[in-house]
Amino acid sequence: MRTITLVNGDGIGPEISDAVIKIIAASGLKINWDIQTAGADVVSEEGTPLPPRVLESIKVNKVALKAPVTTPIGTGFRSVNVQLRKALDLYANVRPCKNLPNIKTKFSDVDIVVVRENTEDLYAGVEHRIDENSAESIKIITRKASERICRYAFEYALKHKRKEVCVVTKANICKLSDGLFLECYRKVAQDFPRIKQREILVDNLCMQLVQDPSQFDVLVLPNLYGDIVSDLTAGLIGGLGVAQGANIGEYCAVFEPVHGSAPDIKGQNKANPTALLLSAVEMLRYIEEYNYADKIEKALYKTLKSGIRTVDVGGDATTEKFRDAIIENL
Ligand code: NAI
Repeated sequence: MRTITLVNGDGIGPEISDAVIKIIAASGLKINWDIQTAGADVVSEEGTPLPPRVLESIKVNKVALKAPVTTPIGTGFRSVNVQLRKALDLYANVRPCKNLPNIKTKFSDVDIVVVRENTEDLYAGVEHRIDENSAESIKIITRKASERICRYAFEYALKHKRKEVCVVTKANICKLSDGLFLECYRKVAQDFPRIKQREILVDNLCMQLVQDPSQFDVLVLPNLYGDIVSDLTAGLIGGLGVAQGANIGEYCAVFEPVHGSAPDIKGQNKANPTALLLSAVEMLRYIEEYNYADKIEKALYKTLKSGIRTVDVGGDATTEKFRDAIIENL
């Protein structure tokens, strides 16, 4: 039986993790979940929100499913998510955004994959206060990381039969940093003559995305733009409750939804487990359990088609009712 690390998170994390574990178990696939706690709740006992045991578990098991973990704003510990991605060198953050059945949004033809560089840019955490009235944050862009993520995006496009990889920067202003990212994209693109190239500035991309998202296919972006744009694309398909994600490295992979710990709805049986479930479906494909992945995805689609949806996407089902309906449809 395969062992997979489960970081069940905080906020709504434990509720949606519970739903997803039960759905996977009901599909017939046996997984030995190595449950690892992380975040604010473990700081008092272990002195850190990301104890070494969590990293060790993922290194040994190679694959993890992760629910969201709260990061305090402005002060306190560094984001567990950012630390995890850096420590395991999970350099590619992949966020597919495709319309789901019966979730009405302004557009019905969205099918975009956001490929975000995951290890550097302003998220390198190199910042300091200069004096009481000013602070400085350093944006790090390297050739190694930029070429690696652009190559990943083109290879992803080839593997998934996508037609275009569009690079997103602000190279007109950040001429050296984003300019280097763009230079790397152009170099890597030469190795993929069958995939169409496109270059766009991030502000124009945002405008185009809310006017006509159907024109975009695979997007590749530095870390910060990727973070923001992937929330925008999540909004195009029904919001954070349905937006899946994956952090891929050379040696391991962590699958997690785009959304955070949603403290505003914690413990209310209202959270939508779809984003975590779809992340788990991709995880099953990653470990080559294609039949179970397809079975669970079909049951989810059938449930949505039957009109059973959580509140965030226009329905009235609780997390548990939605979970049970998916299990029924398996
Ligand atoms: P959030 O994504 O937690 O919530 C934003 C809004 O979307 C809220 O109204 C929330 O109720 C709703 N929402 C999110 N997920 C939902 C779901 N599954 N079902 C129904 N509604 C859902 O973003 P926020 O409030 O900015 O962040 C809260 C905390 O989460 C912060 O500490 C942040 O740092 C952390 N965070 C963690 C992430 C991770 O662990 N990967 C990613 C993003 C944020």
